[in-house]
Amino acid sequence: MKVPFHNVHFGATEVQAVMNALETNWLSPRGPAVAKMGMEWAEKIGMKYGLACSSGTGAIHLALTVAGVGRGDKVAVPTYTCSPTVFPVSYLGGVPVFVDCEFETYGMDPDALRQVLAGHDIKAAVSVHLYGAACQDQIVDICREAGVPLIEDACESDGALYRDLNGIVGSRGDFGTFSFRGDKVLTALGTGGVVTTNDEAAFELLQYYCDLGLHNTSAMGRYRDLPVVGYNYEISNAAAAFGRAQIERLPEIIELRRANADKWRACLDGGDAVQPMPDYPGHVYYQFPLMFDTGSDYRVLDRLGERLMERGVPFIPPFWPMHWQPPYESAESCVKTACPKAEAAGQSVLLFPCYPGLAGEQIEYMAQVCLEEAPTAAGTPA
Ligand SMILES: Cc1ncc(COP(=O)(O)O)c(C=O)c1O
Repeated sequence: MKVPFHNVHFGATEVQAVMNALETNWLSPRGPAVAKMGMEWAEKIGMKYGLACSSGTGAIHLALTVAGVGRGDKVAVPTYTCSPTVFPVSYLGGVPVFVDCEFETYGMDPDALRQVLAGHDIKAAVSVHLYGAACQDQIVDICREAGVPLIEDACESDGALYRDLNGIVGSRGDFGTFSFRGDKVLTALGTGGVVTTNDEAAFELLQYYCDLGLHNTSAMGRYRDLPVVGYNYEISNAAAAFGRAQIERLPEIIELRRANADKWRACLDGGDAVQPMPDYPGHVYYQFPLMFDTGSDYRVLDRLGERLMERGVPFIPPFWPMHWQPPYESAESCVKTACPKAEAAGQSVLLFPCYPGLAGEQIEYMAQVCLEEAPTAAGTPA
């Protein structure tokens, strides 16, 4: 059996929304669907303001900029994450201070974050909600108590609930950042993002930075007195129209993903050599992570990966910790702390598909192969 790694879930509503946008002949700049998409997402998650932009990476870069991060500023970041959680700190000349993860959520470990905030002069923090789940809820309180602005990277967890089930992730920090890339829980015709805030002045600045400093200029004053060195993170009107239709579809998408996760769990029941991520009702299952007993040795994980590929089981590898990445080799580029859990996760987790449209037999097959090929303390299957 061959199982595709991804399949975008959309239908006639999204197609019609794009057609309508095309018929207006207004693709950019500043098409009407763009402002609507941002504000509709903000409303959905219970925040006051949302700005749609071209990617989740752009959303994080914009949020860090408006949070005032500049050259030499230290920013607490997870090391176990996708590069866009961290790279925008470096775009700004900031210094990432790496924080270890924990294994329940794969997000930042609250104790490790506390230590970093106590030991360094931290300008801002970026937390990450991975794989469709919320990180530990205390992360928000820890940052608030320390007076450190928090940017929540919810790019992998559009629509997930906090662990106390009280609200959607991205709505408790100073900024929420979301991805609408083609492989995410929601998409905006292949790429897109949203950054949210409750602060009106910050929202105003986000708009200037997103649009080359041009926001709110009068017709004739367009290129006079640009207030900031802005970027171009604009999303097209057609993409935003698609994104708005996806926002409407979120409950259906979550239901289908959660049903697939239930199926995965039922198929894995009783297999000790694979550990699924602990479930909770707010998980939206962007992916289905499994931790394997590799002895934290990436070569064992690589051999497993080869076997899975041979048998047509799609997966993606775990995050190689950011503090091990070449751009962070030099002492000036970052601050490293002990991150043993991130290093272990980076050598023992694989991510499997959980998208709407996966057939029950496909999940059964993937689970069966994972159980058969899983390395154990006694050794890798021959
Ligand atoms: C954890 C995380 N943060 C940020 C991003 C960036 O989102 P985008 O691809 O829309 O730039 C991604 C996805 O690529 C991600 O997985």
